Amino acid sequence: MPHGEIDLERVLCRLADLAATGCREFRLGGGDWLLKGFVVAVAGGVRAYVNRCPHRALSLNLAPDTFLSADRLVIVCCMHGAIFEKTSGLCVAGPCMGHALAQIPVVVMAGIVMLAEEVAVANLVARYAQ
Ligand code: FES
Repeated sequence: MPHGEIDLERVLCRLADLAATGCREFRLGGGDWLLKGFVVAVAGGVRAYVNRCPHRALSLNLAPDTFLSADRLVIVCCMHGAIFEKTSGLCVAGPCMGHALAQIPVVVMAGIVMLAEEVAVANLVARYAQ
């Protein structure tokens, strides 16, 4: 890929998309098996996680782009109330305390949140698609 071009396969969302709810869902892959993930705004940057709770391997949210507590300080699983740190994905309260969400390395370039260069998209999808 020539320098300066954006690899669309790696684009997750725009930074501006995070303003409304503090987070944004994305899907990677194709067909019936998709990796479901979300990007969350943190102080000074963003994080991305696989949308799969360590407790029961269920999606954390029911409503679109809704992963945070009302004060937006923590990630909350809507199923059984597990609470996760936004910056690390670590569960700090609830049934999976001490376990963590699977983090996906991302970068922000020109206001676009993208998978980091070292991420092999096919491997990521193969590992986490559901
Ligand atoms: S599935 Fe997330 S707390 Fe139970």
